[in-house]
Amino acid sequence: MTIRPAQYADLAAVRALLAAEGLPDGDIGVHLATLWVGVHAGRVVAAGALEPLGAACLLRSVVIAPAHRDRGWGRRMTRHLLRFAARLGMSRVYLLTTTAADFFAGLGFVTEMRERAPPTVQASRQFTTLCPAGATFMKLRDSEAPVVY
Ligand SMILES: CC(C)(COP(=O)(O)OP(=O)(O)OC[C@H]1O[C@@H](n2cnc3c(N)ncnc32)[C@H](O)[C@@H]1OP(=O)(O)O)[C@@H](O)C(=O)NCCC(=O)NCCS
Repeated sequence: MTIRPAQYADLAAVRALLAAEGLPDGDIGVHLATLWVGVHAGRVVAAGALEPLGAACLLRSVVIAPAHRDRGWGRRMTRHLLRFAARLGMSRVYLLTTTAADFFAGLGFVTEMRERAPPTVQASRQFTTLCPAGATFMKLRDSEAPVVY
């Protein structure tokens, strides 16, 4: 899998990947500049995005096509996004997930109380409307934030 910045023409494929998992896809076009795709054999088989929210950001829309799971690609995509966040100077990375909390725990995220989210994150659409109230809210441990020189 090759990870590259998403282009406008990738959006339909990314929406299909997200919709198949019940992940919010309606607003993904707004985040094209911080959206990445994984391409394999000429097809978009993975995606992942950052949603900058002031000094913090949400890691979101991480998805690997079912046929390509359990090859380490989800981990690769997530680590890529964390390096990207560091390049943007964003060390406070959060996420919401209903199904993959253990996966992200293995990548340095810890469960955090929703009330402790920065105001910009609490005001985001992911937080207020797109993700169910029961979703697990997680924060990247400070010690896990990649350092980019
Ligand atoms: C979560 C997801 C991205 C993982 O992708 P993947 O390519 O299968 O992950 P990897 O192969 O890198 O797996 C790394 C490890 O995480 C584990 N893992 C994978 N998916 C997991 C999940 N949903 N929950 C807990 N652990 C998981 C794997 O078993 C593997 O563990 P191991 O190293 O001990 O064998 C993928 O299952 C997916 O697209 N899920 C649907 C969308 C989703 O829930 N996205 C997250 C919300 S934004």
